[in-house]
Formats: sequence, C-alpha cells, structure tokens
Amino acid sequence: MNLGRVVIPADEIQKRVKELAEEISRDYRDKKPLLISLLKGAFIFMADLVRNLSIPHEIEFITLSSYTNGVQRNSNVKVVNALKGAVRNKDIIIIDGIVDTGHTLKYLIDALTERNARSIKVCALLDKPASREVDVPVHYVGFKISDLFVVGYGLDFREKYRNLNYIAELTEKENDNNNSSKIQESIAKK
Ligand code: IMP
Ligand code: MG
Repeated sequence: MNLGRVVIPADEIQKRVKELAEEISRDYRDKKPLLISLLKGAFIFMADLVRNLSIPHEIEFITLSSYTNGVQRNSNVKVVNALKGAVRNKDIIIIDGIVDTGHTLKYLIDALTERNARSIKVCALLDKPASREVDVPVHYVGFKISDLFVVGYGLDFREKYRNLNYIAELTEKENDNNNSSKIQESIAKK
C-alpha cells in the first residue's frame, strides 16, 4: 500500500477544526463538557480542537480496538483501557478521528449511556457515511468523505502516516514519483 493523492490539505483541516471548536464553544457555553478522545486516531485532532476551545472543559482518553490489522474491518469492538474518570452526570463529547462502520462509536455510546452520562454528542473529523453498518448520531462533522481508506493527521495504516499534517488516500498503486516526492518534501519540512 502506498500514499496516494492528498484528500484534505493541512490548511483546510486547521480552518475546519477552528470552526468546529467555535461551534462547540457556543453550544456548551454554560457547561463544562468532558471531551473523550478515541486513541490513537483522534490524538492530533483532539490536541488541535481543545486549543481552539474558549470554554472550560475536561479531557479524557480511551482506547478501543476494532481494526485488527491495517485496513480490515471487524465489528468486534474491545475496550483496551478503561475510562478512568467519572462519567455520571457529565456532558460528554466523544472526539473521533473517523467514523466508518459506526461499531466503535455505538459501543462507546452504549457504555457511556450505561454509566449515566447526562448528555452524549459525537464530534468526528471525518465521516464515511457510505460505509455505515450501524446507525450512530454524529453531531459535529469536519468533513464527509467517500469510502476511501485514508491516513494522516492521526490516522494510520499499520501505525504509519499518523504524523502527516494532511489527509491522504492510501492506494494499492505504485507511488507516482511526483506525488511521492511532494509528500516526502512536506514531511521533511516539519
Ligand atoms: P468503525 O468502528 O468502523 O466506525 O471504525 C472506526 C475506526 O476504524 C476509526 O477510529 C479508525 O481507527 C479506523 N478507520 C476506519 N476507517 C479508516 C481509514 O480510512 N483510515 C484509517 N483508519 C480508519
Ligand atoms: Mg488504525
């Protein structure tokens, strides 16, 4: 698998993350939401999002695993580390990197509902609505994309490419030299 074309450039991501943070700051202005970030894919999104929030908030991280290796889908979601902080009576915003089949989110929403969260909303940088297998509400969406496998800005393929500051498509095609050298250049600049 190789890096293909850039799907969302870095400046567009930054602009959209700022907008999402402003929207959340408005919607939660009288509250102190608990943002729960899904590791590892949402770690960069979370870091950029909270730095643009203008309201008091708390953060927490949770690791769930659904993808066994690389691109293969698996609907068996497992909790890898348990949520430490209390959830009861909190206004939760789940911060996700990408919503694909929806199984991961469904699992987490059910678990948080059981723990008596006061409210639960979902904020995802990317949404692939065409691949949805279970119905989950995504209240704040950065970008809707078609059913591609993408990497970068926290998202990986076998732990690679998380550090890209843009989103790119992963393809089976050989890298065309032009695109590949551009991507290398942009990594080298960071
Ligand atoms: P879901 O349970 O199918 O919605 O899976 C969501 C998780 O699968 C995401 O949080 C990612 O970790 C991973 N995932 C789904 N699509 C992609 C993709 O295009 N690139 C990288 N990871 C993906
Ligand atoms: Mg992954």
